[in-house]
Amino acid sequence: MNTILRIDASPRVHGAYTRELADYFEQNWLQTNPVDCFVVRDLAKDTIPHLTEDTIIGFNTNPDFHNQKMKQETALSDHLINELIAADILLLSSPMYNFNVPSSLKAYIDHVVRLGRTFALNRDNEPQGLVDDKQAYIITACGLDPEKKTNDLHNYFYIYLQNILRFIGIKSIHLISLEGTKATPSTASKDRYDAHSLINMHIEDYHKRHPANLKVG
Ligand SMILES: Cc1cc2nc3c(=O)[nH]c(=O)nc-3n(C[C@H](O)[C@H](O)[C@H](O)COP(=O)(O)O)c2cc1C
Repeated sequence: MNTILRIDASPRVHGAYTRELADYFEQNWLQTNPVDCFVVRDLAKDTIPHLTEDTIIGFNTNPDFHNQKMKQETALSDHLINELIAADILLLSSPMYNFNVPSSLKAYIDHVVRLGRTFALNRDNEPQGLVDDKQAYIITACGLDPEKKTNDLHNYFYIYLQNILRFIGIKSIHLISLEGTKATPSTASKDRYDAHSLINMHIEDYHKRHPANLKVG
């Protein structure tokens, strides 16, 4: 049985393309493998606060010497990190905002990318990821027309997410992208169909390589 950590970052709880695609992913995944379990972290419903000075003091203090306040200040970060480490697979759905991730997701990342917990520095002061590699599926949507190539120049979104996940050790990253959500409905529905096909392909591919839990019959 796999645990899949699903993180939804769109502030739009209704009508969000990224959430719709993540729902499609979850439903189709469970059809293929009903014993798997999705743990959902909804960043719109459970807002992650920005880091504070006290939290950073806690991060910078050896946990063996944490006083009660430091324990409290780092408890959320500990919980989010444990949740991420416990997951076998990561499904991250997020819109592109201003060529990057929305601030809700950035706040989550700030709590999870933590020295001594998810990355370490070796003797040469080089960072080493401490999280075991896992399949990470990133679902994104953006408004601009892909034909216009505007996003190509400024799209830090995927580059950033790839770098930050690799930094903590997650290297098997796949992108499912729906572009031009502000385009005409027919274009949007064709692109949606393409995104669904890509999701089906990823699910099939995963289960071909990990047949142990497949539904029988
Ligand atoms: C604050 C904000 C910033 C945005 N920035 C971009 C952007 O940089 N590039 C882009 O193509 N679309 C941008 N969009 C459009 C969204 O990416 C698009 O509407 C997407 O479908 C939102 O995802 P959702 O439907 O899952 O909420 C932006 C939308 C908002 C509200």
